[in-house]
Amino acid sequence: MKQNRMKVEFKSISENESFARVVVSAFAAQLDPTIDEISDIKTAISEAVTNAIIHGYGSENEDKNVIVEATIDGNELTVSVTDEGEGIDNVELAMQPLYTSRPDLERSGMGFTVMETFMDSLEVKSEKGRGTTITMKKIFNSVR
Ligand SMILES: Nc1ncnc2c1ncn2[C@@H]1O[C@H](COP(=O)(O)OP(=O)(O)O)[C@@H](O)[C@H]1O
Ligand SMILES: [Mg+2]
Repeated sequence: MKQNRMKVEFKSISENESFARVVVSAFAAQLDPTIDEISDIKTAISEAVTNAIIHGYGSENEDKNVIVEATIDGNELTVSVTDEGEGIDNVELAMQPLYTSRPDLERSGMGFTVMETFMDSLEVKSEKGRGTTITMKKIFNSVR
């Protein structure tokens, strides 16, 4: 069974949203994904990394880092996005569709909903003042 792992750490600046998208989709290419599957992953990673930057750290911050880890286990891809920012008070509330703590930034409040829709599972671990790790899984069909 195929197994692999990677980890990247980058500055919490918006340029790195596209970097994270590309690096995770390049890693996932080993699973022989469809165009749609790659597009789903890119969408979900963007939402998670954007959240780390703007909510975790409050804004872009050259002195803070976002960590993306991914593993492949058979036909399953697991991706986690971690920030060591402010954390989430109420995860259940934060995950509600349309909930945003930053309406001032014209946020849609749909980031978690998008991640849940495009990936097969989503788990959020957060500690107030310590940071947040979101872990997403996607299963790739081996039969096409
Ligand atoms: N990494 C994070 N650190 C702190 N708070 C977060 C993080 N990710 C999400 N949140 C909280 O969850 C809320 C909902 O996130 P999301 O569904 O992506 O909507 P939006 O980003 O549009 O506000 C955010 O408004 C924020 O309060
Ligand atoms: Mg968001």
